[in-house]
Amino acid sequence: MIAIGSDHGGFELKTHIINHLKEKGLEIKDFGCYDENSVDYPDIAQAVAASITGGECENGILICGTGIGISIAANKINGIRAAHCHDVYSAEMTKRHNNANIICMGGRVVGRELAFMIVDAWLGAEFEGGRHQNRIDKIHALES
Ligand code: RB5
Repeated sequence: MIAIGSDHGGFELKTHIINHLKEKGLEIKDFGCYDENSVDYPDIAQAVAASITGGECENGILICGTGIGISIAANKINGIRAAHCHDVYSAEMTKRHNNANIICMGGRVVGRELAFMIVDAWLGAEFEGGRHQNRIDKIHALES
């Protein structure tokens, strides 16, 4: 299951990404927001992150206006590796090397077709493990 969430700045792009992923037959859980009324992105980041750290969802997609605030918030939560990506190469590499369990984008920055390519590249890539797992262990050691 893929968790997805946005604030009002990412709401429109989130709707397109949900449709794109559903067309591919993927299971999605939407943690809001559910319209364009103003909300606080840390609340959405927290809900999506908790679904991953709690085991309900495997990974997540977070969208705000720039993708920056929601990624900063998500990365405050132990166990989360949220990657702010606006290009396809970084999206693929952040799965292969960082095993990012959340990808973040700006709904006011990327167009929908590029966003679909970014999400597809990230979901389609495999974590390489090995020396990269050692580095991830060091990242999480910083949490304590
Ligand atoms: C909301 O206006 C905007 O600040 C938010 O979506 C995001 O871009 C913050 O980083």
